[in-house]
Amino acid sequence: MRQKLVVGNWKMHGCSADNRRLLQALVSGLPAAGNTAVAVCVPFPYLAQAQSLLAATPVSWGAQSLSEHAQGAYTGEVSAAMLADFGCRYAIVGHSERRAMYGETDAQVAAKFVAAKVAGITPILCVGETLAQRESDETLAVVTAQLDAVLDVAGVAAFAGGVVAYEPVWAIGTGLTATPAQAQAVHAAIRARIAARDTAVAAGLQILYGGSVKAQNAGEIFAQADIDGGLVGGASLVVDEFLAICQAANR
Ligand code: 13P
Repeated sequence: MRQKLVVGNWKMHGCSADNRRLLQALVSGLPAAGNTAVAVCVPFPYLAQAQSLLAATPVSWGAQSLSEHAQGAYTGEVSAAMLADFGCRYAIVGHSERRAMYGETDAQVAAKFVAAKVAGITPILCVGETLAQRESDETLAVVTAQLDAVLDVAGVAAFAGGVVAYEPVWAIGTGLTATPAQAQAVHAAIRARIAARDTAVAAGLQILYGGSVKAQNAGEIFAQADIDGGLVGGASLVVDEFLAICQAANR
């Protein structure tokens, strides 16, 4: 059975004092045992804080993006090696907010995915359709194209032990959630797409759902066969809510 994974994406939220409280409460509230791994993806300036507060705990940490370049004259960018230097286990790549607001292309997303892998960091590859694309029945075409763009560059072996997050754009931060059946259909399509290249890699792939996951809806979403946990935005900033989501994954 695949292990469940719940990842908090803090986006551009937090300050040292709040982070400390949140992370300490998270660590002390997590159940001692279970089949769920938990991680938080924090803003770059707080990676050192996450590392020092989480190093001796079961909670992993990661970044929300990274540069596709190894080093050089890229003002404002952060490399995969720098993230590894701060103990990051994960880096989110291709989040829809990065694609929509910062113009990240499929080619850049693929390069970021590879850069993370080279540094020993697990990329969390985000894919998902807009509302207009869903309404015109393009969901699977959009999601598979986003996936293929990375598969073609990185190769299917790069997805071994990997993580993909299905995040319908229309469900992010809106309070709208894909129904468990809608999410499951896309997750199954993602796994089938990978299986067409390598069945063992597909069987081990953790596919997370993201988009208004809350304590109240997490249980029925995580109960779907191809949903291996969640990528949680807003609710990851509220410790009781996030803990309840982790608990729901543990069932
Ligand atoms: P919300 O959980 O706030 O909808 O955000 C989802 C998301 O974008 C996680 O990466």
